[in-house]
Amino acid sequence: MDTKVIALANQKGGVGKTTTAINFSACLAEKRKKVLLVDLDPQANATSGLGLEKGFGSSIFPALLGESDAAGLVKQTGIKNLDIIPSELDLAGAEIAIARRDDYLHRLKEAMAPIIDSGRYDFIVLDCPPSLGILFMNALNIADEVIIPIQCEYLALEGLGVMVDIVDQIRDAGNPELRIGGILMTMYNVSTNLSQQVVQEVVKHFGDRVFETLIPRNVRLSEAPSYGKAIIEYDRHCVGAAAYRNLAKEFLKRQKKEAAFGEEALPTLSGVMASGSEGEG
Ligand SMILES: Nc1ncnc2c1ncn2[C@@H]1O[C@H](COP(=O)(O)OP(=O)(O)O)[C@@H](O)[C@H]1O
Ligand SMILES: [Mg+2]
Repeated sequence: MDTKVIALANQKGGVGKTTTAINFSACLAEKRKKVLLVDLDPQANATSGLGLEKGFGSSIFPALLGESDAAGLVKQTGIKNLDIIPSELDLAGAEIAIARRDDYLHRLKEAMAPIIDSGRYDFIVLDCPPSLGILFMNALNIADEVIIPIQCEYLALEGLGVMVDIVDQIRDAGNPELRIGGILMTMYNVSTNLSQQVVQEVVKHFGDRVFETLIPRNVRLSEAPSYGKAIIEYDRHCVGAAAYRNLAKEFLKRQKKEAAFGEEALPTLSGVMASGSEGEG
């Protein structure tokens, strides 16, 4: 199997990108997939959330400038099969530093190419910053798919149109393989109607691109990062751990289906509604 690159992206902050990057990656690793998490957010929450120290010169920044080899920046985490390229605050300067170069939207592609070509990893997961800046565009330019986490709250869909437009633009302008791999509903609150309404609203727009797995609001998920642990290490039996395991399982099932039939063969909700038949695949 080739290395697949998955970007966790949403220009809104606080929607669960980093929590998902850490725990989705950890659960894939638990399923014996070889995973590399690349922390592309200068806030470095995925880095500290997995218990790594933020250290000067340890982010992907020098590799973006072509001054260092990305493979040399890879660190092991406490979880078997899960490696990380950490982040630290210096990455905030990367956008300005690479903006002067002609290929400023493709620096990550060049930096990561040796790792991707080596086939060492099954999946590379990119934790994107909460902006539509240059790092974000670089991430989408090497991604095979984007997973968009959405918080189950009022105005969840706001700004999502912009994300979808950008994915379309990047697909047209240099990364034809890019697609939305899934919309992930996060911080689902079982005790309010609002969460349920938000999910229904999002499904109305995105049909079966929305993951069946909902990530519940779970205090254990918010505690784990301060201990530098993924949820499967911090409390492997809590509902948050179960949810992220289910997500990894659902994701891998989708990958298998797509590898077997090609994306066109996948039935979609809108396709079924349009044709009025159920379609076998
Ligand atoms: N399912 C969840 N249940 C409870 N708290 C969560 C959950 N997902 C994320 N959080 C908390 O919400 C905050 C924002 O999440 P984070 O993953 O950092 O979002 P982003 O990376 O999109 O900014 C963090 O404090 C995180 O611990
Ligand atoms: Mg984040």
